[in-house]
Amino acid sequence: MAKIKRIGVLTSGGDAPGMNAAVRAVVRSAIYNGCEAYGIYGGFQGLINGDIKRLKSTAVSNIVQRGGTILKSARSAEFRTEEGRVKAAAKLKEHQIDALVVIGGDGSFTGARLLVQEHDIPVVGIPGTIDNDLFGTDSTIGYDTAVNTAVEAVDKIKDTASAHNRLFFVEVMGRDAGFIALRTAIATGAEAVLVPEIDTDIVDLETFLCKDYDPATSSAIVIVAEGEKEGGAYKVAEKVGKTHPEYDIRVSVLGHMQRGGSPSAFDRVLASQLGVAAVEALMDDQKSIMVGIMNKEIVHVPFNKTIKSTKRLNPELLNLVKVLSNR
Ligand code: F6P
Repeated sequence: MAKIKRIGVLTSGGDAPGMNAAVRAVVRSAIYNGCEAYGIYGGFQGLINGDIKRLKSTAVSNIVQRGGTILKSARSAEFRTEEGRVKAAAKLKEHQIDALVVIGGDGSFTGARLLVQEHDIPVVGIPGTIDNDLFGTDSTIGYDTAVNTAVEAVDKIKDTASAHNRLFFVEVMGRDAGFIALRTAIATGAEAVLVPEIDTDIVDLETFLCKDYDPATSSAIVIVAEGEKEGGAYKVAEKVGKTHPEYDIRVSVLGHMQRGGSPSAFDRVLASQLGVAAVEALMDDQKSIMVGIMNKEIVHVPFNKTIKSTKRLNPELLNLVKVLSNR
C-alpha cells in the first residue's frame, strides 16, 4: 500500500459529546506522524459536496472540552447509493486524501465499509454515539456523558416526584438499545427500567409498582428507553394510568439535551485514545476496521463484525435494577 500522506476526518450520524476531542486527536496524531489532516464538514454529504479544508494543529485548539462537533454532522441519503459513493471517492481523489477516519455509529460504518470495498480507500472508524450500541467496544464516545446528563436530570425529577407523591415515567434516548436507560436506572435508584431489547409486560410492571405503594405517600421513577416496544414513556404512562387512576402520573422526555454538553473526563480520554489509535491503525496499513476499547485495551474490530453483530445488555445489570428496587 502506498504511504499515507493525507488523512481526512469526518463526523457522521447523531453527534455525541467527545466527538471534538476525537477530531483533535486524529488531527494532531496525523500531524505527529508526518501527515496532513483534512476536515470534512457535514459528514458524508459534506464529502460528496467537497466541503473539505486542511486542518492545522491550531484549528483544533480549545475544543477538547466542547460538545457537538466542529465538523458538523449529518445523515446522508445520497451516500447510501453507489453513485453517491462514486462522487465521494472522486472528491477524496481530487484533494489527494489517501485515507479517512469516520467518527460515528453503525450506519456510518456501513457506508464506510462500502467505500473501502468499492474504491479501495482505507477507512478506520471511531465509535461515536451516545447510544453505546456498537459491538466490539465496551463504550462509545458520548455514552458516559449522556448517562451523566440523564442521571443529573432524573435526580432533579426525583425531588419533585417525592414532594408530590407522583409516579414518573422518564424517557431517555435509545431508539434500538437500552444502554442509557439501564445505566441511568441503576445510578438513580429507579424502581424499574423498560428497554427495547425486552418486551414490556404492562401487567407485570403494574403488579411490581403496586407492591407496597401508597399513592398518598409514595413516589416512584420508571426509566423508559425511547425505543421501548409499547411506544415510549407516554404510551406506557397512559396504559398504567387507565388501570390505576389513583396514581398521580407524570411523564418527562429528556430528549436531545442528552446529546449536548461538555464531555465527561472519561469521554475525553476515550476519544483521545481512539483518535490516536485510528491514525496508528492507518499507518499500519489497516482498512475497514473500527478501533474500540475492551477491558481497557485498544482493539481493532472489522467493520463487518461490528455492523453484523449485536451488543447485548448485561443481564446482571438488568437483574441489579430488580434486586435493588425491591422496596
Ligand atoms: O443515535 C443517537 C440518537 O440520539 C438516538 O438515541 C436517537 O433515537 C436519535 O439519535 C435521534 O436522532 P435525531 O437527532 O436525528 O432525531
